[in-house]
Amino acid sequence: MGTKRRLSEKAEHVSALESSVPERAAEIAEELNKKHPHQKEEELVHHDLGEFNSMVRHKTTAAQAQKLENGKDNPFTGRPFSAKYVDILKIRRDLPVHAQRDEFLKVYQENQIMVFVGETGSGKTTQIPQFVLFDEMPHLQNTQVACTQPRRVAAMSVAQRVAEELDVNLGEEVGYSIRFENKVSNRTILKYMTDGMLLREAMEDHNLSRYSCIMLDEAHERTLATDILMGLLKEVVVRRPDLKLIVMSATLDAKKFQSYFHNAPLLAVPGRTFPVELYYTPEFQRDYLDSAIRTVLQIHATEDTGDVLLFLTGEDEIEDAVRKIQLEGDQLVREEGCGPLAVYPLYGSLPPQMQQRIFEPAPQSHNGRPGRKVVISTNIAETSLTIDGIVFVVDPGFSKQKVYNPRIRVESLLVSPISKASAQQRAGRAGRTRPGKCFRLYTEDAFKKELIEQSYPEILRSNLSSTVLELKKLGIDDLVHFDFMDPPAPETMMRALEELNYLACLNDDGELTPLGRLASQFPLDPMLAVMLIGSFEFHCSQDILIIVAMLSVPSVFIRPTKDKKRADEAKNQFAHPDGDHITLLNVYYAFKSDEVYEYGVQRWCRDNYLNYRSLAAADNIRVQLERIMVRYNLELNTTDYESPKYFDNIRKALASGFFMQVAKKRSGGKGYITVKDNQDVLVHPSTVLGHDAEWVVYNEFVLTTKNYIRTVTSVRPEWLVELAPAYYDINTFQKGDVRYSLERVKERMERMQELNNGKEKQKKKEKKEGKEKHKHT
Ligand code: CDP
Ligand code: MG
Repeated sequence: MGTKRRLSEKAEHVSALESSVPERAAEIAEELNKKHPHQKEEELVHHDLGEFNSMVRHKTTAAQAQKLENGKDNPFTGRPFSAKYVDILKIRRDLPVHAQRDEFLKVYQENQIMVFVGETGSGKTTQIPQFVLFDEMPHLQNTQVACTQPRRVAAMSVAQRVAEELDVNLGEEVGYSIRFENKVSNRTILKYMTDGMLLREAMEDHNLSRYSCIMLDEAHERTLATDILMGLLKEVVVRRPDLKLIVMSATLDAKKFQSYFHNAPLLAVPGRTFPVELYYTPEFQRDYLDSAIRTVLQIHATEDTGDVLLFLTGEDEIEDAVRKIQLEGDQLVREEGCGPLAVYPLYGSLPPQMQQRIFEPAPQSHNGRPGRKVVISTNIAETSLTIDGIVFVVDPGFSKQKVYNPRIRVESLLVSPISKASAQQRAGRAGRTRPGKCFRLYTEDAFKKELIEQSYPEILRSNLSSTVLELKKLGIDDLVHFDFMDPPAPETMMRALEELNYLACLNDDGELTPLGRLASQFPLDPMLAVMLIGSFEFHCSQDILIIVAMLSVPSVFIRPTKDKKRADEAKNQFAHPDGDHITLLNVYYAFKSDEVYEYGVQRWCRDNYLNYRSLAAADNIRVQLERIMVRYNLELNTTDYESPKYFDNIRKALASGFFMQVAKKRSGGKGYITVKDNQDVLVHPSTVLGHDAEWVVYNEFVLTTKNYIRTVTSVRPEWLVELAPAYYDINTFQKGDVRYSLERVKERMERMQELNNGKEKQKKKEKKEGKEKHKHT
């Protein structure tokens, strides 16, 4: 109890601090504007932006804009255009959207909101923001233009491309902003950003006042953040008549977007698509991965020129397929005289330079046999990134999708069948440059009868606790009447409110508490944020900070199929019997040690089967989170490593955050059972947990053929009862194993309490007697 009270005092102080932030931001903005190199003296006079904007909404035509584009000097930098710029400009002028520049400008200038749809690859993401730039000249008006992307990869890759197209350095006039990475400067006028980042900005500035135009791209993906942004922007445009909104989407759902936005006008770019022949398998494929690999190799051996795009579900599967196809492809080259094959992976966590390789041209043909590029990608290549030259698409019909079960409060990523709409998008990728072929590795019957029409929006498939916290921070209290395009299930909403209440982020009336306000400052799951904020109470905020950073990146442990044993041995060097969280901490400390630095960090990672990229990312995230902690005066402390309390303190802090993700060992039986929701689970085999811990906190619930809990650490039940008394109120538990054990725990705690009280009394008595004696002598 004491902890919580002190916490909220701390948070109170912080919220007082926070209220001064907008003013400071305004000051900083003013400073920056003064420094803006391109602004002429007289333009700086206009500080009343509202008036200014309506005054200078000049109307340019496509011809005027093109004249500027064809000119000698870059109007945004004043520097002469490079030769490369001129080359790319020629290609850009061929994109389908280009033919409609005038039409676009007309609709854009005459309306506040518009919906823009076009076939993938028609130039929406790269060109439309530039059309807007040439119309608005934001650098002269002290505004910015934002274009959101559901995926980090797309935001980075497209920003890079558009920086080249505009002949500027990435991070200067054109930048990007994704979670934990902000590549922008005070000159940035066009910002590609993930939808989640724009949502975070909206939490600080409800009116998003720095932007004159916001493009919500890939709206058909219906991510959680895009859905919330749509509801939010629908309100913002009323308050800000000077703000323009463009909803961009592949050719799906256009009507729905239009009617949601009060019948906003629609502009559709007729795509330049070629017919795609569809092939189905005659029967069900038991092993889609194997079947996919065979199909790709067969295409390479028998088909004419044209690159291949294969859709798989995730990093491991993709890397595996890349290796196998490359290996067997090389064999085809040697044995059958086929042309060379270049195989590239593409997935979200791939580093940007590796991603760029998918745009490299296919290898040259050899002895009259075509060389070929094969890209093996997750859903990213479905709509977010367009790869030219694809003629063959291989579609096994699966993707990794988020599912949420509010009853047992489990959110997980599951490999699931795609929708018909997705299948059509995938097939469409084959017909971008000429007629193509799509090989569906499922039967036509399955396509017709088993695939759903459209994937469900993410908001219907997610745990909403982060979202609810964000909405509260956005000043939206009445969640029931928020204008969701598709309102989430009441049960999901209720679960989120309940969870946030247990975390003390919302009070019993559902209002944001100071702690909740503070937690929302962290780009983290509320549970992690609350744990981090409270960890100084346990004298280990430095350590928890590292653990949180390590939990925010893809696994740092590598376990190659053919090298499992060595990899496990390497991992064991860091293992701590109390569990996986502390093991992560050990890895991090070793990674940052002087010895490793001297030895060479990358080499050390390779030697120890550790993912260098993940560790480097965690290190970066740690720094960023630390900055937020410092900004809000959150103490960074740690316990002496030699102290017997060191590990206990960390485990207590973990229990204080993860108290809703706890499993108890089944009495007598095998495996564990989650407390409250009573799900049978096994501890994931990757764990280092040394002993048969009776109570554990876990980071993740993994649904496969069995239910696993992954990344677990043992805790004491007394801590849980002490740190989260409301959640561990016995009366809220069903009769059974967990409840019975908790009752024993409570009894034990009460006995201890009595014993202590007794001792106290005894001590006091002795003290008193001592004093009396003293008096008498
Ligand atoms: O957004 P939409 O799918 O309509 O198209 P886009 O992303 O603007 O891409 C238009 C074209 O730009 C693609 O077909 C590619 O030729 C090119 N592009 C590229 O070469 N490199 C990138 N990183 C992105 C796009
Ligand atoms: Mg796009």
